[in-house]
Amino acid sequence: MAKNTLSFVCQNCGAAYNRWQGKCESCGEWNTLAEEDTSGSVPVSIRSRRKGRTFALESLAGKSPDAPRLSSGMTELDRVTGGGFVRGSVLLVGGDPGIGKSTLLTQATSLLARAGHRVVYISGEEAVAQVRLRAERLGLSDAPVQLAAETSVEDIVSTLSEGAVPRLIVIDSIQTMWTDTVESAPGTVTQVRASAQALIRFAKKSGAAIILVGHVTKDGQIAGPRVVEHMVDAVMSFEGEGSQQFRILRAVKNRFGPTDEIGVFEMTGLGLREVTNPSELFLSERDLGTPGTAVFAGIEGTRPVLVELQALVAPTSLGTPRRAVVGWDPSRLSMVLAVLEAHCGVKLSGHDVYLNVAGGLRIQEPAADLAAAAALVSSLVNAQLPTDAVYFGEISLSGVVRPVAQTPARLKEAAKLGFQRAVLPESARGESGGDAGLSLNAVNSLTTLVAEIAARGSRRGESNAPAEKNATPARFRRGEG
Ligand code: TYD
Ligand code: MG
Repeated sequence: MAKNTLSFVCQNCGAAYNRWQGKCESCGEWNTLAEEDTSGSVPVSIRSRRKGRTFALESLAGKSPDAPRLSSGMTELDRVTGGGFVRGSVLLVGGDPGIGKSTLLTQATSLLARAGHRVVYISGEEAVAQVRLRAERLGLSDAPVQLAAETSVEDIVSTLSEGAVPRLIVIDSIQTMWTDTVESAPGTVTQVRASAQALIRFAKKSGAAIILVGHVTKDGQIAGPRVVEHMVDAVMSFEGEGSQQFRILRAVKNRFGPTDEIGVFEMTGLGLREVTNPSELFLSERDLGTPGTAVFAGIEGTRPVLVELQALVAPTSLGTPRRAVVGWDPSRLSMVLAVLEAHCGVKLSGHDVYLNVAGGLRIQEPAADLAAAAALVSSLVNAQLPTDAVYFGEISLSGVVRPVAQTPARLKEAAKLGFQRAVLPESARGESGGDAGLSLNAVNSLTTLVAEIAARGSRRGESNAPAEKNATPARFRRGEG
């Protein structure tokens, strides 16, 4: 007799319990447990009786053909996948609703179909007419993409097993798919996991590349079924601020390529436009002449990206001052504030601090420390930073400005965009080779930079800064020794 396999599965992380409880002990979320039938498709009695077949074992040195890739025809998309879709691989694309996932994939599939590949778009969310309407808006109605609105995985696999193997299949979205092999309702972890498994099996067997679209929960996880992330070959997230037209495609996991590359797009009335020079875009609407902004020369993957950091430091009326940051790591901001306070005498405990990365980019490099510090101090002392300068460097807990990778690439990009100077770590000056044509202002410690900015503030006759009085190298040295 089949065992009773009803259990309670966390809809956030997939952990299973045999009784209900309010909090998932695995991921700490509340009210995420739902009752599900977790029995597999094969009855236990058959499973255990089947005798395993033998298979040949191979050596590591065998000759396997290179992973054949299918270029999408969109440079920014190929950059993130690592050069195109790999045959037989499965890619998960996650993002907030309305961010443009369906638009991106409609464009990519149309380009491939026009190039003569068999491409299938299965929509589980929208009716065929809606998908057609989008294609029409994008001017892609003539592309020979094969389209269907279906949600049964078995039907999809049977249909696609006929005829030529599709080169690319888009499943929009995995949360709408369901399979007969499990009892749970569509959208539950068990259903999503089983559907994804069936589709992954089909991809490996047939050699078709599959893209699964996944929704993102409010806290930014690719929804509920985090389990799917482990099963697929690559996970990309499509991000952007709703109010801005920039969209960033980022690889979170990639078995066949780098994970630090980003693809930049702009949402226009006619679909997504690729942005080949993101720096120009991120700097296109600079607030020239306002205190509190600094341009950071960053690196995203292999590409230098210049972006403006905006800071606002204002006296607080609250007992605990606010710290709000968009586009950067809040703990990194706390660290920079602590170093400013401990080593540079910049008192910020009575101030609210806001930091924003312009354009909706999310920076992950520690190299942004110096630019963030410059923007913060500039806002505090109300002194404008030179508009033709870029900043980069990591700040250590002792207040020393540490070198970062790829200095020449950062300087070259800055020079290309018309910047005249760079504020950078002392030790990076040598490797930069003055060939970029920028004047270099090497700083050894954060104290030096704070003093320089404070001096600009006092020259303007508007100094109200504690920094100016206290930020002396002597104080810094005492702190170190
Ligand atoms: P969509 O691709 O449907 O998002 P997702 O699949 O991630 O939910 O995109 C929806 C948004 O994009 C919608 O608000 C309208 C906007 N949009 C444009 O601005 N221009 C366009 O050409 C298209 C097709 C959509
Ligand atoms: Mg969609």
